[in-house]
Amino acid sequence: MSDTRARHEPMTAVYPDLEGKVAVVTGAARGMGARFTAALAARGVHVVGADINEEQMLTTAREIAAELKGEKPGEVIGTRIDVTKPEDHEAVAQLALERFGRLDFWVNNAGIFPFALAGEITPEQIEATLKVNVEGVLYGAQTAARHMEPGSAIVNMSSVSAVRVRRGRGAYCTSKAAVAHLTESLAVELGDQGIRVNSIAPGYIDTEMTRWVKEDPAALRHALDVVPLHRLGSPEEVVGPLLFLLSDSARYVTGHSIAVDGGSRHV
Ligand SMILES: NC(=O)c1ccc[n+]([C@@H]2O[C@H](COP(=O)([O-])OP(=O)(O)OC[C@H]3O[C@@H](n4cnc5c(N)ncnc54)[C@H](O)[C@@H]3O)[C@@H](O)[C@H]2O)c1
Repeated sequence: MSDTRARHEPMTAVYPDLEGKVAVVTGAARGMGARFTAALAARGVHVVGADINEEQMLTTAREIAAELKGEKPGEVIGTRIDVTKPEDHEAVAQLALERFGRLDFWVNNAGIFPFALAGEITPEQIEATLKVNVEGVLYGAQTAARHMEPGSAIVNMSSVSAVRVRRGRGAYCTSKAAVAHLTESLAVELGDQGIRVNSIAPGYIDTEMTRWVKEDPAALRHALDVVPLHRLGSPEEVVGPLLFLLSDSARYVTGHSIAVDGGSRHV
């Protein structure tokens, strides 16, 4: 985390209806989850950031609080979660309710990306990918729905990989296609409770997850080739769609996926 303040200042007045709301963001120790947490807190949202890497999560929460000091931001609490465990989700929800008294938003962001050819992928890799990326989203949504009031919103992190296959990503693509479909199913069912469920489908976003792309000249060349805008996206460039989907501006939007991929789903 660095320079959070500078990167958020231009947008702090956008979506004032978010102020005072309460969010859970999973996988918030780094990458997009950390950026989402900082962006929400900068707009007055109280956030429980949860990650399997508890130490990094606590550090990130402290850094965000320090960077937003003096701006009347929302409070940020860091805690541990293993999203493959339903009981961990419930504990995080209880923490949000105890500390902030309500639960408005749940961002199912935690994910893993194993690179393995279909002929070589191990049962352990397949199981872990489906457990974290798919079951983790389902348990998060189930938990959120138990505690949310009408008007609340869930956002799941899907991927361009839900609609485009590339070599070595069979398990990941399968898991993200499942997230896209799960999002639509959840939207249909949770609509009865007035809860909206949408997904974001990023392309190549510059985080630890895609570090291998930057480190491999051939992979980077290929990535830039298949992105019509010919560059990787930054985590900050995914913030706008997240805020929109959570905000009242999207109150009639559910079961939708917003691609943030520089156009790569078409190539
Ligand atoms: N970076 C990209 O290009 C890209 C593209 C499309 C989709 N996505 C998706 O966006 C989301 C965020 O990606 P990122 O690039 O910020 O990833 P990242 O690897 O930087 O961060 C993922 C976070 O999830 C946490 N996590 C992993 N397993 C967990 C578990 N079992 N329980 C709790 N936390 C766990 C990790 O500790 C990490 O902090 C992921 O779902 C990813 O699949 C990323």
